[in-house]
Amino acid sequence: MAALSFVHHYQPGASPASPTLLLLHGTGGNEQDLVPLAQDLLPGAGVLSPRGKVLEQGMARFFRRLAEGVFDLEDLRLRTAELADFVTAAADHYRFDRTRVIAVGFSNGANIAGSLLLLRPEVLHRAVLFRAMVPLVPDPLPSIPRTPVLVANGRVDPIVPVAETERLAALLRAAGAEVTLVWQPAGHQLTQADVVRARDWLASSATP
Ligand code: MLT
Repeated sequence: MAALSFVHHYQPGASPASPTLLLLHGTGGNEQDLVPLAQDLLPGAGVLSPRGKVLEQGMARFFRRLAEGVFDLEDLRLRTAELADFVTAAADHYRFDRTRVIAVGFSNGANIAGSLLLLRPEVLHRAVLFRAMVPLVPDPLPSIPRTPVLVANGRVDPIVPVAETERLAALLRAAGAEVTLVWQPAGHQLTQADVVRARDWLASSATP
């Protein structure tokens, strides 16, 4: 168990071949936050839900930031590698299919999921990013092998401007991802409409 270096919640899928949802909470959350959504999003999927290791005034996050929307890029790179290695170690430990891991991230969790896509794309099969920003811009840009990505952001989000969302979609597309961009008439909070839209997208982008 030593290699599983994150506090986490795990529940197996309906079968060893089931996809596994990598649930990534927002700032101040924990590994239980998104678990109730998992069965709504993809019935039968397994769940791997780590708790972010960085504490900001007692609130758990997945990487450090210098200010709202200004990220500590060195820490982000280290934390992204650490999370990718955790997912790989967890697949070995729990014996789930490592080629069928789907990230579902909210806010800070969506941002580290975006960073995984850009720095360690082999770890993710698909990704759902709720209220995501551009985490970093790698140079050179990686080649993401046609990974389907849903970006679901709010039109009136005070934290993520519309232009930032469009920059993220453009960046992921330039790297090769198949991006579906969905706007919600919402702010930064997750809504039931987000869950319904993500569920439909997960069902339609499923591979046999
Ligand atoms: C947050 O509050 O978590 C930010 O909006 C996103 C981030 O810092 O990654």
